[in-house]
Amino acid sequence: MIVAVGADHGGYTLKTSVVAALRAAGHETLDLGAFDEQPSDYPDFALAVAEAVRAGKAERGVVVCGSGVGACVAANKVPGIRAGIAHDTFSAHQGVEDDDMNVVCLGARVIGRELALEVVRTFLGARFSGAERHVRRLAKVREIEKRFASDEE
Ligand code: RB5
Repeated sequence: MIVAVGADHGGYTLKTSVVAALRAAGHETLDLGAFDEQPSDYPDFALAVAEAVRAGKAERGVVVCGSGVGACVAANKVPGIRAGIAHDTFSAHQGVEDDDMNVVCLGARVIGRELALEVVRTFLGARFSGAERHVRRLAKVREIEKRFASDEE
């Protein structure tokens, strides 16, 4: 699978581990930065990953910041992106199976390296169930997205 990965300074070190683990597992990885621990802004990397997924350059995305929250908020602003924070394996697979989550967000100051790597493995191994109730709910999510698409704050 092609996986886009990004992080701000808070997530840089964990991103390095995620990229290495993904490559070792045979995934093609688009590492979209940051490439060092200099202070940086999580929206830049959340956007880069979200755009790669939206454009079909990557099938899934992983974004790491300090808490996972900022990255998740930013990634979800991109239409077609269904980002979620997963710091446990249940959320990592159920978020895909039920909610078709296509970007997982991790907080490097919240979760340890080994669990984070397991979360990413679980996320990538999961598939959307296609169950009617989930398709219906996702259609409602898309309606919300469309309704506010042209609004400016
Ligand atoms: C940066 O210090 C921090 O705010 C960021 O990594 C992230 O935790 C935001 O949600």
